[in-house]
Amino acid sequence: MKDLFDKIYRDRGPLSKWSSHAEGYFIFPKLEGQISHRMKFQGKEVITWSINDYLGLANHPEVRKVDAEAAKQYGSAYPMGARMMSGHTSLHEQLQNELAAFVKKEAAYVLNFGYQGMVSTIDALVSKDDIIVYDVDSHACIIDGVRLHMGKRFTYKHNDINSLEKNLERATKIAEQTGGGILVISEGVFGMRGEQGRLKEIVALKKKFKFRLFVDDAHGFGTLGKTGAGAGEEQGVQDDIDVYFATFAKSLASTGAFIAADNEIIHYLKYNLRSQMFAKSLQMQLVAGALKRLDMLRSMPELKQNLWKIVEALQSGLKKRGFDIGTTQSCVTPVYLKGSIPEAMALVKDLRENYGIFCSIVVYPVIPKGLILLRMIPTATHTLEDVDITLNAFSAIRDRLENGTYKRLSAAVIAEMGEM
Ligand SMILES: Cc1ncc(COP(=O)(O)O)c(C=O)c1O
Repeated sequence: MKDLFDKIYRDRGPLSKWSSHAEGYFIFPKLEGQISHRMKFQGKEVITWSINDYLGLANHPEVRKVDAEAAKQYGSAYPMGARMMSGHTSLHEQLQNELAAFVKKEAAYVLNFGYQGMVSTIDALVSKDDIIVYDVDSHACIIDGVRLHMGKRFTYKHNDINSLEKNLERATKIAEQTGGGILVISEGVFGMRGEQGRLKEIVALKKKFKFRLFVDDAHGFGTLGKTGAGAGEEQGVQDDIDVYFATFAKSLASTGAFIAADNEIIHYLKYNLRSQMFAKSLQMQLVAGALKRLDMLRSMPELKQNLWKIVEALQSGLKKRGFDIGTTQSCVTPVYLKGSIPEAMALVKDLRENYGIFCSIVVYPVIPKGLILLRMIPTATHTLEDVDITLNAFSAIRDRLENGTYKRLSAAVIAEMGEM
């Protein structure tokens, strides 16, 4: 009989096999200093394009003050226990009421973490007779939530309404046999490529099919829509989203998350979300901090305006220089280049060491082999100077990629690990 660990010793997985070349630099890098558009990496200042602090709230003096006061008043333990047992407070309730009003839903429920919250919301919404239909490019928390489902599930091609329609036809037939219902799940903004979920067209299918729509709007909340209420507001379909989710980990620059829906649905979820019933409630300092951030989101539209000024300068500058930024419709700015993983590593090293630009790289198996994705997240704290420096650096590294410099620089890694 095999030892359970044999497979781990044999194959450490597609990413960790790069650890000896990548750890501490490309994977698990340490960004130091205050969270801002400029931070330190390995002792040198870099322009940071990899932090989801869209509105620049993470290090805003007013936010820091409220965070510090709340930490002083409550410490980091209070309240102890799960919401249902001993972890509930008036401030949690206040935050829920304010969040619900902001995203124009009857009620909201605060979650201690977005990932687990999504997993268990999916788990709670469906029973074995129900069918889930979800976008194939969904975030891991959606995929993991669907994994818990005991009934049928279908993926539809990424943002492809024809494919969704075909799968709704299949799902409808099955639901008629099982007596169950259908849950469609999309993201408001797909975080890797930046496309918005086609919520308007999904909602239009409600005329033809019977289903409920659950939207994970992690990247849309605070960045899209007239008031910042997200992708549903942007596309004019917020009312038709049956269950709305957003995390505090991006625009609100904190930890925690929430779901919002009709009173009855939130009441049900409050009593059935295993990730909240059997885990500690969100700490008070984070609740107080989220209230402050939400207040700033509502009352300081200039934060979103600054963000979009940078997004537009960056995205139009990249396009003008002939870069492929895919089909983004949000702040998420992907830049697609062609090359192997070793070339990507040499290129990013050049960007960081010689041009002072820090952005995340995404390679196979997250995207197809032979593609390099430099994923950039503009924020309200970036400046037009940051954008100019970055655009010039990108033009320079593209020239070096095309003239084979990175292939030469990565020859030793290619010899050891292969082309990839
Ligand atoms: C689309 C999406 N959903 C959910 C989450 C998880 O949220 P949290 O970080 O609050 O766990 C993330 C990432 O952070 C995300 O990008």
